[in-house]
Amino acid sequence: MVNLTDRRYIVTGAAGGIGGGIVSVLLERGARVALFDLDETRTKAVASRLDPDGQRTMSIGVDVTDPTSVSEGVARAVDGLGGLEGLVNNAGSVVLDTAWDAAVEDWSKQLEVNVIGTFLCSREVGRYLQPLGGAIVNVSSNCGKVGYKNMAAYNAAKAAVISLTRSLSMEWAEDRINVNAVCPGGVDTPMLAGVAEWLSSRLDVPADELLAGMGAAQLGRKIAPVEVAKVIAFLLSDDALIIRGQAINVDGGDTPY
Ligand SMILES: NC(=O)c1ccc[n+]([C@@H]2O[C@H](COP(=O)([O-])OP(=O)(O)OC[C@H]3O[C@@H](n4cnc5c(N)ncnc54)[C@H](O)[C@@H]3O)[C@@H](O)[C@H]2O)c1
Repeated sequence: MVNLTDRRYIVTGAAGGIGGGIVSVLLERGARVALFDLDETRTKAVASRLDPDGQRTMSIGVDVTDPTSVSEGVARAVDGLGGLEGLVNNAGSVVLDTAWDAAVEDWSKQLEVNVIGTFLCSREVGRYLQPLGGAIVNVSSNCGKVGYKNMAAYNAAKAAVISLTRSLSMEWAEDRINVNAVCPGGVDTPMLAGVAEWLSSRLDVPADELLAGMGAAQLGRKIAPVEVAKVIAFLLSDDALIIRGQAINVDGGDTPY
């Protein structure tokens, strides 16, 4: 089992489905975690479920698209945890529409949360890690490689996260900051349920039925948040030092590249 004893990490989007899985695995591996999300009440609920005595977590309301909010949040995390060894950029946003109908505001939102949010958090944490070294893992998606219908902006945003991962990995190698990404397939979370809901009315198929078919095809089931989290824990660890700037598929083998 990957050992992260006494390591300290920020996880963004920590109140969501995959975020909760990441926090639980990092705690299980011995780390302490600052949970970032838009809604601090939701983040606190996740923290108190996973860390009932509150000794190894802290909850901070942060909008990853707002530079001031990010720098204040990172400063509070460094102060509260006594330092940092890394970051998981997991906050994300998807808005479905056809390319014909997609609104510019929806494109902006998805690029802001998925790409600019990942960049802002990485740079702010990177500034702290620069003299020390550390690791950053970005949550992209198989959408960033394969692409799916009705998700042009999300596909483009997640492809940009893969590109950003390579850029930061190269620029920050000399500072011993390792940057990688994971590309999950269909993970059992509220986000995936929302995708099924959107498609349901357009295809006239019950959302439950659509959701049931959205898992990893080769496994014949959806991916669990903790399965993504275990790969992230490995990429954060010293065992993965030789893996740099990669976008690792976490999709049960469905994406062959
Ligand atoms: N669920 C899937 O099938 C799937 C597949 C591949 C990749 N992903 C990616 O995994 C990540 C987590 O997704 P999830 O399925 O857990 O979704 P989710 O909707 O359950 O969680 C996303 C979280 O991000 C937070 N968030 C959104 N905008 C934010 C902002 N500006 N600042 C801070 N937090 C913000 C939300 O409040 C939410 O708690 C996302 O990046 C998503 O794109 C999900």
